[in-house]
Amino acid sequence: MKKAKGENVRSPRGETAKKNRIGNPLDFIAEDHMREREVCALIDRLVDLVAISAEERATILDFLQEQLPHHLQDEQIDLFPMMLERCDPEEEIDKVIDRLTSDHGHAIADAPAVVALIKAQGRELTPEASTVLTEFARHARRHLVLENAIILPIARTRLTKEDLRIMKDHMQERRGLDATEEI
Ligand SMILES: [Fe+2]
Ligand SMILES: [Fe+2]
Repeated sequence: MKKAKGENVRSPRGETAKKNRIGNPLDFIAEDHMREREVCALIDRLVDLVAISAEERATILDFLQEQLPHHLQDEQIDLFPMMLERCDPEEEIDKVIDRLTSDHGHAIADAPAVVALIKAQGRELTPEASTVLTEFARHARRHLVLENAIILPIARTRLTKEDLRIMKDHMQERRGLDATEEI
């Protein structure tokens, strides 16, 4: 498989470069997970009342408002259905995917409240607000463990080159990127 040319579609700091392309879609999903971990660490700092910079705040907001919705669609519309098709029923991957799908629903429901709190930075965090942020980050980390430890390793062995091509095309379409490059 050719090395991804689109690795710098987003840097590890979360910036987006619209002209570049996604390489291996599973690598891109893994990179989204690293970005999500960074965002969780920033949220922890806010809860601990450690000041974050305007750039770091923008990183959180960009991830929650722009990148996370695409990421959830990448998994829900492409990755999970492909996994269900490629895995044997006795592997019971469906149970893991049911759990992850439920998590996605909670993330979609909870993200707006987290965004509002991040935007209101500067005001003192109430105990309730701290709990909202802490729980969001805790759930996100638990979710990432399952996806990184179970879903992505199996996906790398089971999905076909054609699966990856379709997934990549859809991921690029979602982000308004050119969908012509081979993986
Ligand atoms: Fe994910
Ligand atoms: Fe997920």
